[in-house]
Amino acid sequence: MKSKRTVLVTGCSSGIGLATCHVLSRNNFMTYGTVRNLSKAKKIQDLINGENLSLKILRLDVNDNQSIKIAVKKILTDTGRIDVLINNAGYGMFGPVEEITTQEVKKQFETNFFGTIRLIKAIVPIMRKQGNGTIVNISSIVGRFGVPLNSAYVSSKFAVEGLSESISFELEEFGIRVIVIEPGVVKSDFFQNVKVKGMNLESPYQKLMERRFNLLDKAMKNSLTSSYDVADTIFDALNSKDPKFRYVIGNDATNSLRMRNSLSDRKFMEWIRAGIFQGKGLSK
Ligand SMILES: NC(=O)c1ccc[n+]([C@@H]2O[C@H](COP(=O)([O-])OP(=O)(O)OC[C@H]3O[C@@H](n4cnc5c(N)ncnc54)[C@H](OP(=O)(O)O)[C@@H]3O)[C@@H](O)[C@H]2O)c1
Repeated sequence: MKSKRTVLVTGCSSGIGLATCHVLSRNNFMTYGTVRNLSKAKKIQDLINGENLSLKILRLDVNDNQSIKIAVKKILTDTGRIDVLINNAGYGMFGPVEEITTQEVKKQFETNFFGTIRLIKAIVPIMRKQGNGTIVNISSIVGRFGVPLNSAYVSSKFAVEGLSESISFELEEFGIRVIVIEPGVVKSDFFQNVKVKGMNLESPYQKLMERRFNLLDKAMKNSLTSSYDVADTIFDALNSKDPKFRYVIGNDATNSLRMRNSLSDRKFMEWIRAGIFQGKGLSK
């Protein structure tokens, strides 16, 4: 049997992070599932209590360098290496650009983008010395194109995409691979955790926001993509001898990207407008 690879996953209190910990720790990965708040570790603790998994919980807030340092040190003390980093922690922010504050946009970037950078900076030196490693960045299909009333989130995921492409060139020299995961709508706690502006009656965007939200709510409820589908894709990518750089997950994501690649900018924007504001959806 191949020796266990050590993996650090961020944002494991729920959703994709939690499912990824479950799948990897069942399958010969020594998995460190991290949560920013240990009081929210119940679901991951339940996994450990229910099965014999190679899974440990550590506290790590992607916005807190000290917590990153302590978690990384603990993993190195335990296993002496970190083979895989999965940058998953993140949240969504919805609202018209006119109404979201610069502070709120900065906060969105702080977690989704700078959090990813902080982890990469902490772990690349370890992987470089090992001469190998894999960094998996959880982006989104909206890291590939814009959608209305979601600009802070979309921009943060575009930034993750640009970062991932750029660093993949400089890290390959040292045997470090970068993989980007681009899910469409996934059933998870994401929707419950989104920050929202512009839903109030005084907002000139209220009607648009409502339409946007109704569609998202419907898409979330009807989504056929589970957090485990994303986790299984990550597992397959980590076991592939020749993994792809990008993995697009879900029918909505695949279809949107096909439209993006086949239509002009203007035609694609018309398609997005019809899908989101006229409720036609993005799956077909
Ligand atoms: N669900 C979707 O439709 C979808 C689609 C495309 C991409 N994604 C991406 O997938 C990733 C995971 O989202 P999810 O769907 O699994 O949503 P989720 O269930 O809300 O999980 C998000 C996780 O990130 C954690 N987190 C937030 N801020 C953090 C911080 N500062 N430090 C450490 N952890 C932090 C949350 O912890 P707390 O419980 O403490 O808040 C939670 O564990 C995100 O990057 C998201 O953008 C999701």
